[in-house]
Amino acid sequence: MAKEFIVTPWEVKGNIDYDKLIHEFGVSKIDSALLDRIKSHTGELHYLLRRGIFFAHRDMKFILDEYELGNKFFLYTGRSPSGHTHLGHLIPWMFTKWLQDKFDVELYFQFPDEEKFLFKQDLTLEDTKKYTYENMLDIIALGFNPKKTFFIVDTIHADLMYREAIKVSKKITFSTVKAAFGLNNESNIGSIFYTSMQAVPAFLPCVLKNKKMPCLIPHAIDQDPHFRVSRDVIPKLGYYKPASIQCRFLPGLGGIAMDGKMSSSVEDATIYTTDDEVTVKKKINKYAFSGGKDTVEEHRKHGGNPDIDVAYQWLVFFEEDDEVLKQIHDDYKSGKMLSGEIKAILIEKINSFLKVHQKKREVAKKHVDEFILKKHSAHHL
Ligand code: TRP
Repeated sequence: MAKEFIVTPWEVKGNIDYDKLIHEFGVSKIDSALLDRIKSHTGELHYLLRRGIFFAHRDMKFILDEYELGNKFFLYTGRSPSGHTHLGHLIPWMFTKWLQDKFDVELYFQFPDEEKFLFKQDLTLEDTKKYTYENMLDIIALGFNPKKTFFIVDTIHADLMYREAIKVSKKITFSTVKAAFGLNNESNIGSIFYTSMQAVPAFLPCVLKNKKMPCLIPHAIDQDPHFRVSRDVIPKLGYYKPASIQCRFLPGLGGIAMDGKMSSSVEDATIYTTDDEVTVKKKINKYAFSGGKDTVEEHRKHGGNPDIDVAYQWLVFFEEDDEVLKQIHDDYKSGKMLSGEIKAILIEKINSFLKVHQKKREVAKKHVDEFILKKHSAHHL
């Protein structure tokens, strides 16, 4: 039964058919030849690549061609501050950190602190300021290289950003924005302009260094419409078309069929990086959709269904060890492992991760300034 689904930068809903999305968005599926080529540089493949969680790309071959010629790319990704960081947000960032380490490249991380202010009715600029800081702590806690990571905050770096954004905006029409983002005559004009701001970090480093460099953008697939538009514009400004690599969404606790991604709008179906142990346990036990059978007897006889079991799905995103994961899969499917047991494994996994992460988050408070792009030095780069 084919269900409707929606994937836009501002709304993700339904049971997402990722193959259909590849077709609709016009991205390319990551195939084994590409994986082999990445592996030839990285030595091993990140589990998010091995498991197809990063599943699509645009122009990865160009990035590798240039890299092999000695022309290093830079990474660009971002987070629009609108609330605390949840576990789903961490997925593309963990992968970005791996790319930074393996290819030893710079990362430009954008905090478009006007985006959700413009798109959400009740979010103030005070809120977005607070969450910019909170979200920065999570990003720093993941261990990005402070010497090679630069935070761009749209309202702080407004002077650097605006100069470039107007060049982008001059080459995008309202009808393009309407078609790509579903905006209409009723949309506020800030929201219509916004995509020009998200385009800028894909070439800002080239402006700052006065050097043409390839850009690779790791992101969740919902952000693709922005880059579909900016890929047409950026070459007209004299820079390379940015390349990108896309991941799927971590499903919400309520289940894949109910919501496509973990959304902060459903509090209980979301685990934040700031949640304590008891809260994590409570949320998973109470809300994680189970693929188990109704009675222990039936479960032992017929086994559980890992494909729809959220605890198992989350382990695919967070358990790095393939063998451990396979054992859990097989035991759950055969009925040897019960729903409560697979949930207990997930709770332990998430809580031990968060315990370390929260400590690093505290330490990060002393280092925020080091990560913020220095405007003055930037002018002279
Ligand atoms: N729009 C993104 C969000 O809603 C934030 C963002 C800005 C971003 N630039 C990006 C995400 C580049 C991925 C890549 O969170």
